[in-house]
Amino acid sequence: MTVEQAQEYLKELAGWELLDGKKIAKEFKFARYLDGIAFAQKVGALAEEEGHHPHIHVFYKKVRIEIWTHKIDGLTESDFILAAKIDDLTPRPPSRIEKGEGLGERARWPGVYAHYRAFLPAIADEHIVTLLEGNTPLVRARRLEERFNLPCELYLKLEGANPTGSFKDRGMTVAISQAKQSGARAVICASTGNTAASAAAYAARAGMRAFVIVPQGQIALGKLAGSMTYGAQVIQVQGNFDQALAIVRQIAEEYPVTLVNSVNPQRLEGQKTAAFEVCDVLKRAPDYHALPVGNAGNITAYWQGYCEYFSSKQIAKRPVMLGFQAEGAAPIVLGHPVENPQTVATAIKIGNPASWQGALQARDESGGLIATVSDAQILEAYQLLAQLEGVFCEPASAASVAGVLMLAQRKYFESDSLVVCTLTGHGLKDPDTALATASAKPITVRAELNEVLRAMGL
Ligand code: F0G
Repeated sequence: MTVEQAQEYLKELAGWELLDGKKIAKEFKFARYLDGIAFAQKVGALAEEEGHHPHIHVFYKKVRIEIWTHKIDGLTESDFILAAKIDDLTPRPPSRIEKGEGLGERARWPGVYAHYRAFLPAIADEHIVTLLEGNTPLVRARRLEERFNLPCELYLKLEGANPTGSFKDRGMTVAISQAKQSGARAVICASTGNTAASAAAYAARAGMRAFVIVPQGQIALGKLAGSMTYGAQVIQVQGNFDQALAIVRQIAEEYPVTLVNSVNPQRLEGQKTAAFEVCDVLKRAPDYHALPVGNAGNITAYWQGYCEYFSSKQIAKRPVMLGFQAEGAAPIVLGHPVENPQTVATAIKIGNPASWQGALQARDESGGLIATVSDAQILEAYQLLAQLEGVFCEPASAASVAGVLMLAQRKYFESDSLVVCTLTGHGLKDPDTALATASAKPITVRAELNEVLRAMGL
């Protein structure tokens, strides 16, 4: 490869230098002589496994590695891949948080993978990519209960409190960690926006490239802004989510890029931890769990989580699962794909969900239902959540509460039941809908006391 190409590859690595345009080298320093020797041995074992022949020079408390492809006396991509894998071997001293030193209780939350490791696929510590997602608030919605005279206790699981503002981070930490462990350098997803932002953030943290394919003009502003700022390559297709998903599935089959949509089972593994958290906080399962349904990964994952907690005897019974689709994007309720889905809740504007079967299984095994709510019902719940509970979620999230209010009106819930609604994403994701639907618009006045008082009605 040319020197320019080599320099381009080096940008993705830290501390490696180019020698004569045909080798890369790095020095690793150690606190103890024996640590250096142990590291050199690990590099040797890795090189043997990979059939590669780096030079490993051991000095006092220092190891120098030089890599090149001997056959051509120059560099190939495999040299850079080996360098990245060697970097992953370096023992990093635990941070103050990891040691739990001098920090409060809350700082001990290690992220969903470390907390629920026993229920998750095995991934080595050094590959875990986390933003300490999870441990999101479960808040009681007393004012909504009172306003609607609900016979049940209503709780809201605030998934917008995750690091990128949606529940997707739970699945993404597991999917990206797994991708890192298997040596992936790039990930791809199709998205209505939240998966894109989450994949972009976790890929950035893992030092991987992210390609996110979104339906042009149909994703909320905060999601696009996040994806772009995290450094993903955003590709907008002139079509809908379902078309974008079909394209990325094909690309992931033919090219070396890992698919991180929820068809990747690691995503659901991570997302099921939300069900664990609900049970851990309540010390039981709820009687009903309500969720918005788009691509249907989340309802599938929650049900998987509840079933696993049930079979490992953490809970004595499982909840009834309630899924809600937007009226104009309700393939599961209709029983056939929707060619041209329409709804104000762009996150769930999906006509042919990938986890369709999983959603049906969750519904049928739990004795639940999947129903539709209209855009008007969604927006009403969206306003009520903000104004009665101080919870600003995105429109799709409010579908869960809209659905529960609709069922309550039909006397669906028996008294004293416990209902949890997942609010999947933060309201700031979609400022356009917030501004367009807010009932109280700002009043503009001159910067004078009297004018402000008058505007206040005083
Ligand atoms: N709520 C929000 C805020 C979402 O972003 C999504 C899905 C859902 C609900 C539905 O979850 O697909 O598992 O049934 N968003 C995906 C995305 C499709 O690309 O961000 P689901």
